Amino acid sequence: MRHFDAAITAYLGFEREAGAHLERAVAADPDFAMGHCARGYFLKLFADRAQDTGTAEAIAAARKSVKERGATRRERNHIAALSAWHRGDWQGALDRWERILLDEPLDILALKLVNHLYFYLGDSLNVRDSVARVLYAWNAETPGHGFVLGMYAFGLEECGDYVGADAVGQQAIEINPADVWAIHAVLHVMEMQGRHREGTDLLKTSESVWSRCNNFANHMWWHGALLLMDLERYHAVIDGYDNRIRAERTDHYLDIANATSLLWRLEEAGIDVGDRWGELADKAEARSRDHLLPFADVHFMMALAADGRTEVAETMLQSMMASAAKGDGVAAIVTRDIGVPLCAALRAYADQDYQRVVELLEPIRYDLKYLGGSHAQQDLFHRTLVSAALKSQQFGIARALMSERTADRPSSIWNWRTYARVLAALGDEAGAVGAWRKARDLLIGLTL
Ligand SMILES: [Fe+2]
Repeated sequence: MRHFDAAITAYLGFEREAGAHLERAVAADPDFAMGHCARGYFLKLFADRAQDTGTAEAIAAARKSVKERGATRRERNHIAALSAWHRGDWQGALDRWERILLDEPLDILALKLVNHLYFYLGDSLNVRDSVARVLYAWNAETPGHGFVLGMYAFGLEECGDYVGADAVGQQAIEINPADVWAIHAVLHVMEMQGRHREGTDLLKTSESVWSRCNNFANHMWWHGALLLMDLERYHAVIDGYDNRIRAERTDHYLDIANATSLLWRLEEAGIDVGDRWGELADKAEARSRDHLLPFADVHFMMALAADGRTEVAETMLQSMMASAAKGDGVAAIVTRDIGVPLCAALRAYADQDYQRVVELLEPIRYDLKYLGGSHAQQDLFHRTLVSAALKSQQFGIARALMSERTADRPSSIWNWRTYARVLAALGDEAGAVGAWRKARDLLIGLTL
């Protein structure tokens, strides 16, 4: 159990050694059902077809162990959850984990996984409340309490309770300064509230913690790059992209998502990103038939579209539709109703068919959240809609969208800058000057 506990703690802390701890746990006890099950979970977290065989083997080994040795209800539910997830039945997996947590609210593995899947369903309320439902069982004496508060902080943030998220996140960091997820939750709060300087400081002071992480460290760099983007420090963003975010050129979906969303934003800001799309498109092309995570599919499509791989992009779109038609689970519905039109919009954007982008994105913009990912990650798609409305000279739509965005996030420099462009295009000079001033004042406030 020592190695297994170390593996779970490492998983919660995004440590590189999680898999190695688990291998040791299974080597020490080859009939350890939860060891095999956790191995399957870890492989599923990659959302990569290349891990399918390994996952199936882990399920088979877990079942064999149960036959040999029997199992508790909790263990049986875990194995059933893994099997459901593996066959694409996300709701089945969620139901099993929720069932476990009713009886075993201290099962932090079930809690983290249920949190993970709700996040990729865009179910912010359950990202928050899956944790809230077990809080009664946790207190300062319970090992792992800090991790639970870190998860709760992120859920609060995704539900828009920035004050609550900040307080709970800081509490989690105080308990465990190495809790990267808690640091990340507070960073999200700062991003959403336009607290650039505090965000940059937090990243700097905690760098010794998160730079040791697995590829989640790249996502932390990505957050740093977002803060720099608003300050128009594009050279620093490119430097971070080359030397940190994309230093390891993996095909992991989160790495691809960080990279594609950053390059897209840079190009949107008029920055020449050179040939950087090429290697991302190579990875995306190889993964273009995975369809394990709609969020990942969309970012693969961004790389293909931006690199001009029209035929591959078209084939991927057809493949997404075929995959969605085969399934009836929630992931298939999200792919069909959101993933496909969003991917078509991204392709249209790359083809400079901005009118088509607006036609495709405007009707689904309130449903984009079901694609999963954070507000910070999703924001790119909403910005793309605004840019397309501007570029297709649909200034009335652009003005309405920017009026909405500035009301929602008045601390965003991008919002005011873009609003100024829209108002200027409409001939509203006074309004444009007012919006420019707001952007300028925010920028001065950050750089003084
Ligand atoms: Fe994030």
